[in-house]
Amino acid sequence: MNQYDLTQGGTIVAKQPTLDPARLPAHVAIIMDGNGRWAKRRFLPRVAGHKQGMENVKTITMAASHLGIKCLTLYAFSTENWKRPDSEVGYLMKLPVDFFNVFMPDLIKENVRVQVMGELDALPAATRQAAEAAMADTAKNTGMILNFALNYGGRDELVLATQQIAQAAAAGQLDPATIDASTVASHLMTAPLGKLADPDLLIRTSGEERISNFLLWQLAYSELVFTDLYWPDFTPAALEAAILEYQQRDRRFGGLNS
Ligand code: IPE
Ligand code: IPE
Ligand code: MG
Repeated sequence: MNQYDLTQGGTIVAKQPTLDPARLPAHVAIIMDGNGRWAKRRFLPRVAGHKQGMENVKTITMAASHLGIKCLTLYAFSTENWKRPDSEVGYLMKLPVDFFNVFMPDLIKENVRVQVMGELDALPAATRQAAEAAMADTAKNTGMILNFALNYGGRDELVLATQQIAQAAAAGQLDPATIDASTVASHLMTAPLGKLADPDLLIRTSGEERISNFLLWQLAYSELVFTDLYWPDFTPAALEAAILEYQQRDRRFGGLNS
């Protein structure tokens, strides 16, 4: 949409830029960072930031669904986050249980389909069961996919994919000469997302400007938007602002656009 309106007499009047609904990113991925600093700034324990962060997952999920985003991937726990103190890890592992307990009726009403990707076998049983139940209970929903990355790491994902491909080759089910990008993609944890596997837009909150082992393959041509807001402070308006920034980018994919 035009950022400016030409009024009668030729005066250019600045208009609040609005999102172009025809050019929404289909898949938005978010590195939800800054919960600890959000809490610290309020003299609260880090876990208070995680609790507030979980509340914001509900807010942003609803906002993304209402905007018409097709897939929202949220980085909730990385394969490196086990390095944190046991008490914090324990709290983070309990959050999905609470989240799905409280939020499942709203997710179902909103027609959201939950996906969870990561090394789920290494999660505490209650966490894994909550994730599996959420996927099963929303499997028939046809609206936005809410894809959580939980105990997810991009390198770990590529190692697993490599193992699977090598095993298929060793078993004679796959000719190594036929391995191409689609073979690799089909063994990644985003394979269930089909055409939506690669994020169009990656947002990272909290001012850090790095990938932190997220979606290493899938981010090849994603547009990256960084915001200084801590995750609990990231609002639906901030999401719209990030999408607006995305819409002002020229995605060339290595080619030339006029
Ligand atoms: C993001 O917030 C949540 C997780 C990584 C689980 P952090 O806990 O990393 O917050 P900061 O970066 O320490 O502020
Ligand atoms: C990335 O944040 C992981 C998640 C948001 C789940 P981190 O806080 O773990 O990343 P680093 O340590 O700052 O790179
Ligand atoms: Mg962090």
